[in-house]
Amino acid sequence: MFNDQKILFSGMQATGTLTLGNYAGALKNWVTLSDEYQCFYSVVDLHSITIRRDPADLRKRARDLLILYIAAGLDPEKNCIYYQSHVSGHAELAWILNCFTYMGELNRMTQFKDKSRKHADNINAGLFTYPVLMAADILLYQADVVPVGLDQMQHLELTRDVAQRFNNIYGDVFTVPEPYVGKTGASIKSLQDPSKKMSKSDENPNASIYLMDDPDTIIRKCKRAVTDSGSEILYRDEKPGIKNLIDIYCAMTGKKPEETEKEFDGKGYGEFKAAVGEVVVDQLRPVQQRFEELSKNKDYINRIIKENSEKANYYASKTLRKVQRKVGFPDRG
Ligand code: TYM
Repeated sequence: MFNDQKILFSGMQATGTLTLGNYAGALKNWVTLSDEYQCFYSVVDLHSITIRRDPADLRKRARDLLILYIAAGLDPEKNCIYYQSHVSGHAELAWILNCFTYMGELNRMTQFKDKSRKHADNINAGLFTYPVLMAADILLYQADVVPVGLDQMQHLELTRDVAQRFNNIYGDVFTVPEPYVGKTGASIKSLQDPSKKMSKSDENPNASIYLMDDPDTIIRKCKRAVTDSGSEILYRDEKPGIKNLIDIYCAMTGKKPEETEKEFDGKGYGEFKAAVGEVVVDQLRPVQQRFEELSKNKDYINRIIKENSEKANYYASKTLRKVQRKVGFPDRG
């Protein structure tokens, strides 16, 4: 597409406040991978309206999220950082792919089942076809790789199935993408209930560390994290609270669970929790500072938004035109 580099696509929803789970499972890996690939990082605002949102709040959160991508270390001159709603190709391709996705496949999506339970008064068609829009996001840019947390794997598998189905009918139109899941941090759990994932929508603020939490809050939340009986720092399924804190520690430091067990051998939960808090604070502080600086620089951000949406539209329309031709829509002359 651009040069010899492979293509990477990923996105996040501008809903709620980003958590350490989003950072460890996705954003941090995005930054690491961004040298190796030609990257498209989208603020997926079309996805956000499957649940009712206050318009002004959605607009503000979407802009903050876009700024946060840059603050986390993604160079917007090199990586295409843009709003999904600024590229109409996402919705157009999603319609076409809807016609190549089966109801039975969408019925099996666990995220649809969870969200329908949570929002029983608003089980709209968009919530149901959400994974098709996600497939369109990825296939529109012919992405080779898609870095995500473990909770998105089922959607990625569906994307691959739809791409292969389309290719079997029309020839090699889409690149079939590979998921990229980091060795650590792919599934960060709630600090209050390690059987659940850490989530933006958790009602208990102590369950999640938010990217914009101040140092004292982060340290306090880590100290209050639910731990297990016993006193040793061991990476075991029977100790889900400590296992989660080790995952967080490893995601922040790049260390392995075995190294972490050794490092804290003979030390108690209190000392370990304090250390986890500190490494999280150290990681997030520069991101928070840069976010504050960038937020003030409105002209710069507006220029990035404009330039990158043009770039995204250019590449998206190439794939879209090809797909439209393949399915039999008339040429544009
Ligand atoms: P979203 O906005 O819920 O989450 C953004 C990214 O963060 C990861 N993540 C986690 N990783 C580890 N531990 C956690 N507790 C945790 N919580 C969230 C997610 O796996 C994700 O990578 N549908 C997607 C957004 C999307 C997308 C796409 C992603 C739309 N189109 C195309 C990739 C490619 C979503 O709602 O992610």
